Amino acid sequence: MKMVVTAGPTREPIDPVRFISNRSSGKMGYAVARAALRHGHDVVLISGPVCIAPPEGAKVVRVETAIQMMNAVMEHLQWCDALVMAAAVADWRPAQAASSKIKKRAGDLVLKLERNPDILAAVRGGKGGRTVVGFAAETHNLLLEAKRKLELKGLDLVVANNVLESGSGFDVDTNKVTLIDACGEIVDLPLMTKDDVAERIVEWIERRRRISRGGKFAGSGTSP
Ligand code: CTP
Repeated sequence: MKMVVTAGPTREPIDPVRFISNRSSGKMGYAVARAALRHGHDVVLISGPVCIAPPEGAKVVRVETAIQMMNAVMEHLQWCDALVMAAAVADWRPAQAASSKIKKRAGDLVLKLERNPDILAAVRGGKGGRTVVGFAAETHNLLLEAKRKLELKGLDLVVANNVLESGSGFDVDTNKVTLIDACGEIVDLPLMTKDDVAERIVEWIERRRRISRGGKFAGSGTSP
């Protein structure tokens, strides 16, 4: 398979020295990329700024902002059979990034934020036979919110995790996730390493594409 994996946070500049971002470490997305490589797949890893060594054998595309990440995903979409969006894309960006450092002055600073595009929503129209996996990072109503995203974004699988649960979420090596697929199957996985979660995601994609090939589901134009 040819797989595109996104990972890490995006950074949205306020000025040349400041940005808004989120707590994503990139560990989950990098684990998915490593698992895919272990399984012999071709991997393009589109990564926001993280402190993790690039997996050997992957083509790594480094981006900073949500718009850069969207452009990189769109550039590689035709090439791939499967897309795993593990990145924590910033939903808003400062409406105007100052070209020089905003100097400290008395009083408050008010920032106006404008919406970033939703990358998965943008992918939906050109999805074709590709397998698309999204994540749902939630703090409440986990299953309800995850199912809403599965439908809204036209996903084949959503990986739902409660980021407030211990051992789960940002910057830890473990995760406790529930896999929900478009057929309504729900698999509640125990707390496990992100590498093991990644293995389950890659296995799910492989199984899904095997079943698709057996049926009348054609797959993407570039699949082997
Ligand atoms: N995502 C995306 N583009 C965005 C935001 C999120 O493609 N601008 C993707 C993420 O990579 C993830 C999925 O959408 O796979 C869900 O992301 P999440 O942050 O959980 O949800 P949001 O869509 O941002 O919705 P909300 O803020 O309401 O939770």
